[in-house]
Amino acid sequence: MTTDILTDADRSFLFVLGSSRPDGNTEILARAAAEQLPAGIPQRWVDLAEDPLPDFQDGRHEDGTWPVSEQEEELRRLTLEATDIVIASPLYWYAVSANTKRYLDYWSGWLGVPGLDFKKRMGGRTLWGVTAMADENEATADGLITSLNNTAAYMGMRFGGVLLGNGSRPGQVRADERALTRAKTFFEREAPLARFPSEEETGER
Ligand SMILES: Cc1cc2nc3c(=O)[nH]c(=O)nc-3n(C[C@H](O)[C@H](O)[C@H](O)COP(=O)(O)O)c2cc1C
Repeated sequence: MTTDILTDADRSFLFVLGSSRPDGNTEILARAAAEQLPAGIPQRWVDLAEDPLPDFQDGRHEDGTWPVSEQEEELRRLTLEATDIVIASPLYWYAVSANTKRYLDYWSGWLGVPGLDFKKRMGGRTLWGVTAMADENEATADGLITSLNNTAAYMGMRFGGVLLGNGSRPGQVRADERALTRAKTFFEREAPLARFPSEEETGER
């Protein structure tokens, strides 16, 4: 798919919630951003904790087929149907949550499914991130941001960046006015084709 000439009518968002608790700060922030999307753009929301994926088994280099769980089948379908994938994960140990990471690990399995063309089909689509974190120093989320950027770069996807919000107890992100302001326009951002940091222009010195 190429998203160069996508209009709102062609777009659909998949929000992948990766917190280990319901109604948390990450979801609150993601919903604040999603509220601003035009009404005509379909949104699907999936909570990875509700119906957890089994641990990812790396069968990529083994012969034969690998059993596919119902959860995997459903997530694969939802992922391939969306033009925009929003990884809504809290910051856990300076990275995405385990649920989120497991979902992304499945992408590696999908890359090898004969006839699925997962990488080709995801190319040109857009990856976004939404993250709540307890630390007020946003630089401590750099690892998560780099990891999502590099994931998008590997997949040939666009990357819209990560919307960060501060909070520890559920609901605290509502007091982070800066985050809520950023949420209002987050999905209006340019989302350029992602590049690995080593490919970035270094500029003149
Ligand atoms: C396992 C775990 C690891 C965490 N690691 C970090 C961290 O590295 N940096 C940070 O700022 N907050 C960390 N936190 C705090 C959460 O990011 C914070 O409570 C956030 O609001 C949780 O989002 P949620 O409400 O969407 O679950 C951690 C929390 C848990 C449970």
